Amino acid sequence: MHVLGIETTCDETATAVVALTEDGRGLIRANEVLSQIAEHAAYGGVVPEIAARAHVEVLDRLIARALDAAELGFDDLDGIAVAAGPGLIGGVLIGLVTAKTLSLVTRKPLLAINHLEAHALTARLTDGVAFPYLLLLASGGHTQLVAVRGVGDYVRLGSTIDDAIGEAFDKVAKLLGLSYPGGPEVERAAESGNPERFALPRPMLGRRTPDFSLSGLKTALRIEAERIAPLTQQDVADLCASFQAAVVDVVVDRVRVALRSFGPVAGHPTALVAAGGVAANGALRRALAQQAGEAGLPLVAPPLPLCGDNGAMIAWAGIERLRLGLVDDLTAPARPRWPF
Ligand code: KG4
Ligand code: ZN
Repeated sequence: MHVLGIETTCDETATAVVALTEDGRGLIRANEVLSQIAEHAAYGGVVPEIAARAHVEVLDRLIARALDAAELGFDDLDGIAVAAGPGLIGGVLIGLVTAKTLSLVTRKPLLAINHLEAHALTARLTDGVAFPYLLLLASGGHTQLVAVRGVGDYVRLGSTIDDAIGEAFDKVAKLLGLSYPGGPEVERAAESGNPERFALPRPMLGRRTPDFSLSGLKTALRIEAERIAPLTQQDVADLCASFQAAVVDVVVDRVRVALRSFGPVAGHPTALVAAGGVAANGALRRALAQQAGEAGLPLVAPPLPLCGDNGAMIAWAGIERLRLGLVDDLTAPARPRWPF
């Protein structure tokens, strides 16, 4: 089984071909991505109109490139998977209309994939993780702790009441004059910083439900930055290190609470899975690995290129749904919001 994956919900145009092997694992045959970061950098964030136009310009070539790399033609495919949301509606529409057209012309089944579900299932592609598992999904737009019980069977244990974690990293970066996207920049700056210089708050620590709140932390950082301005390079490094340490403490505490509430809804987890762009953060990965170890669970975090948005995760989610017969038709809507 081979499925084409198309991802256009934000600022990466991505395509991939993933195969299902005989032992039930996924094999990435091609994974192409064109980031639009350069086109949005001047604005300090993603501009929806620019994103949509950039997707139109490159998507057909990127599909051809994925098929070439996989040495396959449309006839060899068993399905066309596309992220149908949540995301910026212009980009989602471009991916979805393209996928519907391909599905109609090639008579291959259409798989309209929830982008968040694709992040959630990536650990099964890379590591063959069995259900149920505890998922920490942390990206630019979403922060959730989810009991993943099966394909399409998710119980949300907690989420953020204000900013997403990636969004908080991006806002802090902007505040400190670092470039977009902020997460990797803050992590890099933090490497030469002192995480104990600024006593930043750890919002929600100890709360009994595994929810997040990050806007207060960001505000506390802004107040510190204004207090000591103008900032030297070392100040920026120390602020980044202090912020990252606070985020890591909060996440570890929230995961601890989520592990406690997991049992009653889903039984014993097989793993702690980290997904979404923020899962690329080294300090967070190290802390989660230690925490998972203490709980007797493996930490499964996708390799870095599969943490952020990519086509392989869409193709894999397509395979997971296709083998359960969960196919879509040409009426599948583009969804700017799509809780999962
Ligand atoms: O999953 P993703 O690629 O796109 C969304 O669906 O949002 O996540 C992007 C987010 C951005 O906010 C980015 O700043 C953050 O992930 N991110 C990081 C790191 N790499 C990416 N945050 C912290 N540390 C990183 N190393
Ligand atoms: Zn994403």
